[in-house]
Amino acid sequence: MRKVLFLGLMIGLGFAVAYAFNIAPEKYRKWNHVKSMVIFDQKHPLFNPFSGIHHVYVNDKGLGSIKVDGPRKFPDGTKIAIVFYEHVLDNGAYVEGSKKLEAFMVKDSRRYKETDGWGYFAYDGKGNNIVKDMFKDCHACHSQVKDRDFVFSIWTK
Ligand code: HEC
Repeated sequence: MRKVLFLGLMIGLGFAVAYAFNIAPEKYRKWNHVKSMVIFDQKHPLFNPFSGIHHVYVNDKGLGSIKVDGPRKFPDGTKIAIVFYEHVLDNGAYVEGSKKLEAFMVKDSRRYKETDGWGYFAYDGKGNNIVKDMFKDCHACHSQVKDRDFVFSIWTK
């Protein structure tokens, strides 16, 4: 009986881990809005693949740190989301088109030792996982801002 309970618990945990980071917009949009940006010019180094309109959100745990404009550390439990939409020209304005990408950084210094404490997750517009290697696909580029604890965004005042 205890074995069955244990197995049930492990399966439950497995599902919880698998789904924990595929966070619905309804959830992260209740976090704190950090900043937004429109990348519309091919001359911008991030145009491919990060063109479009994006918004950044942080949960309450990481709010204090993201407001620091300088060397900083985020506490375990911090979650940061970035969501990308196509930028569609509409009568002189750029409006949000279809969703391109949702990406997350989750701080857990024990679980994600190889990437300096950050777990990286990303899904295309249809919800398919697109991260194969957290280090190569995400962390290497984020290492440009190591002194800011690998987080580029700073709270818009
Ligand atoms: C080529 C460099 C590069 C790669 C590769 C990259 N990012 Fe980023 N990422 C950035 C930049 C630059 C920003 C800041 C955008 C802004 O200023 O609004 C950013 C922002 C973010 C943010 C918001 C927090 C922050 O650092 O500002 C998250 C979350 C994020 N990226 C997750 C990921 C994930 C997950 C991957 C891997 C699939 C990834 N990134 C790959 C450059 C990169």
